[in-house]
Amino acid sequence: MKYNFDEIIDRSKTNSRKWNPEIYKNIYNGKTDLLPLWVADMDFRVAPAILNSLQAVLTHGILGYTTADKEYFQAIIDWNKNRKDIDLKKEWILFTNGVVPALNYIIQTFTEEEDSILIQTPVYHPFRISTENNNRKIVTNSLINTNGYYTIDFNDFEKKIIDNNVKIFILCNPHNPVGRVWVKEELEKMGEICLRHNVLVVSDEIHSDLIFKDNKFTSFLTLKDELKNNCIVCTAPSKTFNLAGLQTSLIFIADNEIRDKYKNTLMKIRLETPSTFGVEAIKAGYLHSAEWLDELIDYLDGNRRFIEEYIKENMPGVKYLKPEGTYLAWIDFRNVLKDEETLEEIFEDKAKVAIDYGSWFGEEGTGYIRLNFACPKSVVKEALDRVKNVIFK
Ligand SMILES: Cc1ncc(COP(=O)(O)O)c(C=O)c1O
Repeated sequence: MKYNFDEIIDRSKTNSRKWNPEIYKNIYNGKTDLLPLWVADMDFRVAPAILNSLQAVLTHGILGYTTADKEYFQAIIDWNKNRKDIDLKKEWILFTNGVVPALNYIIQTFTEEEDSILIQTPVYHPFRISTENNNRKIVTNSLINTNGYYTIDFNDFEKKIIDNNVKIFILCNPHNPVGRVWVKEELEKMGEICLRHNVLVVSDEIHSDLIFKDNKFTSFLTLKDELKNNCIVCTAPSKTFNLAGLQTSLIFIADNEIRDKYKNTLMKIRLETPSTFGVEAIKAGYLHSAEWLDELIDYLDGNRRFIEEYIKENMPGVKYLKPEGTYLAWIDFRNVLKDEETLEEIFEDKAKVAIDYGSWFGEEGTGYIRLNFACPKSVVKEALDRVKNVIFK
């Protein structure tokens, strides 16, 4: 390995949301002594090419207004073609300061108050929060869980759309937290149903660069034209290269009318260009950091397998199925714990480990936790040891 993903970098003295105790204590009942494997960012040093490009900006010494240049757009087009087989056109590419802000702008642009929005629970909770904050109604299509492998209940999907006159479906692909990378047939089926009932598909593909061997990512933008033209894809280099702090995300819209409407919203608030750092980081990431990413995925694959073996050997009754994509492990503690209260006692009070509680993602997640394994393997092991020593002592 060329890059050292085992390196421990102390983030606790920075303003890191994940690591700074003064920040995470607001989530974890005042606790300030937790080992954090929760919020979805990585504890690895950023790829050298990206650090060098940001350093060059600093050395130049001026951080004035910037623009996105030709190379920026070409880097985005080539990356998406090479790694995901998406045929992007330059004009489809829009910038936002985060996928979650984009979801909010989309909701505000394409729906009215009291309109219904469909999500597939358990799912990344800001989908629900963004919907409710905008006074829209949330409708849930629960995923089917068969021994930890999640699939879609298409009958319920269509029924919920009809019964609630749903206007937008927010898809999570790859799915956070259950780790599925939806296959073409599943996407087409959902896409057809949405088309039939005039539902706009918003495909959150922020984790789409983090796919493990034997799985293939399919972007909604690679489906046939009618489906491609009924979607907005939200993505970013932030999960891929650990750049969440740069607030740089990408929105792709193929259909002219949908794109114009969305652009109009952005123009109203003058959200037009990414930051100086954002532009340079995207170019350095997409043009010069593919090798780093491939090594990162191998390292994450090691952690993903380590968790599997560890649980099998040390935690009888705990269930975990390796994710197909993302760096998030979705672990079922229902057989060994009684209720949510107990999960908090085990993780926060006794093991001193901060994870995401499954119930945050919807009631279907009760009894589960989501563990972020984008950290040195030694940290994953330390967290699992602590939990094992509490439950299986
Ligand atoms: C599915 C999904 N969408 C969006 C985000 C956050 O995106 P952003 O930081 O660009 O708002 C996350 C972060 O964990 C995520 O998992």
